[in-house]
Amino acid sequence: MKQPAAFVFDAYGTLFDVHSAAARHADAIGDKWQLLSEIWRTKQLEYTWVRALAGQHCSFWRVTEEGLDYAIAAVGGIDAALRSKLLSAYRELAAYPEVPACLEALKARGAAVSILSNGDPDMLADAVRLAGLTEVIDAVLSVEAVGIFKPSHHVYELATAQFGLSAGEISFQSSNRWDIAGAKSFGFHTVWINRVGRPDEYPDLAADEVLKDLNGLLI
Ligand code: LAC
Repeated sequence: MKQPAAFVFDAYGTLFDVHSAAARHADAIGDKWQLLSEIWRTKQLEYTWVRALAGQHCSFWRVTEEGLDYAIAAVGGIDAALRSKLLSAYRELAAYPEVPACLEALKARGAAVSILSNGDPDMLADAVRLAGLTEVIDAVLSVEAVGIFKPSHHVYELATAQFGLSAGEISFQSSNRWDIAGAKSFGFHTVWINRVGRPDEYPDLAADEVLKDLNGLLI
């Protein structure tokens, strides 16, 4: 694809490291901190899919809390005081190291740069501010505007409406392969950010490009 007019980024896992919350409290959690973090993320996402399919929308903060509660119960032996600490840490997730410079470089080339996320507007605002991305991001689009989670096409339509572009003129980046499948079915140019070398899936909804981090967008 020649230089797209707009780059739209998923937030959690793509720009912000969801596992940085549990990593920050790894010593207190103990040697199962990665298991806890994986279950937390997996359940958080499962709850979004079930709610979207069942027509029962709720906030992303709620599925984040409920996913953590399940993970704490499943792993067992977790100090009860960690729940609020982990939730606070989720409001202060670390951005992946290449993110600020990469987004600034794309913007300097004249592209619009935005976020399209399941996250609640206040969660996304915290993450963007803490990562120092406020100036570079043109629009932060939350599913709250349409009241349904990804991969509903109503969510992806927020981006085409925001920029007045057709789906094929927008490059959509996500580290979540299921989100790439949804975005591809909508018609975006899709870039799967496969940070940890996961096996590919959804062969009928293949990503147009696969990169290991955002730096590949600048090549
Ligand atoms: C998001 C989740 C899916 O930011 O990572 O939309």
